[in-house]
Amino acid sequence: MMDRISHTDRTATSTRAPATTLSRRSLLRLSAGATVATTAAGFAAAEEWNGSLADWGEVRDLFALSPDTIHMSAMLLSSHPAPVRNAIARHREALDADPVAYLESRGEELTQASREAAARYLGMHSVHIVLTDSTTMGLGLIYTGLRLRSGQEVLTTEEDYYVTHVSLRHAAERSGASLRRIALYDEAASADPDEIVERIAAEIRPETRLLALTWVHSSTGLKMPVPAISAALREINAERDEGNEVLFGLDAVHGFGVETANFFELGVDYLMAGCHKWLFGPRGTGIVAIGERGLSAVRPTIPSFDDSEVFSAWYAGRVPRGRNSGARMTPGGFKAFEHYWALPEAFRLHADIGRERVAARTHALASAMKAALEGIDGVVVRTPRSEALSSGIVAFDVDGLASSAVVSRLRVRGVIATVAPYPSAHVRLTPCIRNSEDEIDRAARHLRDSM
Ligand SMILES: Cc1ncc(COP(=O)(O)O)c(C=O)c1O
Repeated sequence: MMDRISHTDRTATSTRAPATTLSRRSLLRLSAGATVATTAAGFAAAEEWNGSLADWGEVRDLFALSPDTIHMSAMLLSSHPAPVRNAIARHREALDADPVAYLESRGEELTQASREAAARYLGMHSVHIVLTDSTTMGLGLIYTGLRLRSGQEVLTTEEDYYVTHVSLRHAAERSGASLRRIALYDEAASADPDEIVERIAAEIRPETRLLALTWVHSSTGLKMPVPAISAALREINAERDEGNEVLFGLDAVHGFGVETANFFELGVDYLMAGCHKWLFGPRGTGIVAIGERGLSAVRPTIPSFDDSEVFSAWYAGRVPRGRNSGARMTPGGFKAFEHYWALPEAFRLHADIGRERVAARTHALASAMKAALEGIDGVVVRTPRSEALSSGIVAFDVDGLASSAVVSRLRVRGVIATVAPYPSAHVRLTPCIRNSEDEIDRAARHLRDSM
């Protein structure tokens, strides 16, 4: 078992009151938010939540971000919070002292702890979890590993990201399956969730074997109504033979670490996410979660180091026995193990803060960001206002200014925004739990002053 976040970890960069004095306060706050245990995901969080980290300033102090800058870039690459940083340092020291002894004595247990932490977070069994380096690696492994054949098709949307589009092209080229893209909405800000679901359901054809979507679009910040889409697919699949159902793959990276829905609530077959964005996990870590049906429809690409049956079969010169699993799908080779094994600390941090509270705080800050931007003449917010159709990403344009110019002007003023790497490149500000209301106001003021 990995250590729980120690008091030293949490206060390493903080001068605030120790966690023990916060727990009573936070218990009171928790009782006011009794909804925590009313969903399956919330239940998992409530079970683990230890009553600390109720204060957002204390959460913010866990990050070693430069204080003179307003960092609104959680959607790109995480800054490690203290518990993750400290775990990485501990593993690195042990590996540097004796890599072989540490790997041999602790490797299996630590890798399994990472797999179990992800499984607990998603409300599923660890046998369904693949450990990867990134969302991109997960999408590439799953889509090119799918058992597709000529005559079948994979369906995605114009709004999906480069890594989904290119992984699907690779999959189609290898298998002879065809690839089709549909447009989901004209304007994200005025999109209607029911219309999105209807549009997708109407486009499913008898030959459609995979629907590949993205939970939160990194171009516009629109959050897809994933549970409603999977409900529509369930109806379609009820009419299909086993092995011919429409499988549902989801690039979940911009909902993972923010939203509370677990794997079964989302209802997908494959969930791909990097852990190095909103989850604040170690850079270079990610996961794929695969449902029962998904496991039998996909093959490993890179030899696993986590499944002893694959080694045994190799020694014996036979084909591996048993069912496919998350361990069998996990790419082998030696890793940056200090990062790989520090992953449970990121999940634990979310449990310690409280998963429902992370979601509520991120949504509240994103709503405040949208309201502040809407108050500036010449700014057009692209992200839907509704919390049901958005998450932490806030996308916008400035009349008469290229998005790259807006980002440059903000950077000069110490605000880190990013440009969406899409043909329609909006500016994105992405507040998260390490940001404050004051930073929202200041970021908006800087934008107004820069126009
Ligand atoms: C929708 C989406 N998927 C995947 C990625 C890449 O994620 P990763 O760095 O985990 O591969 C990004 C952007 O970084 C993205 O916006």
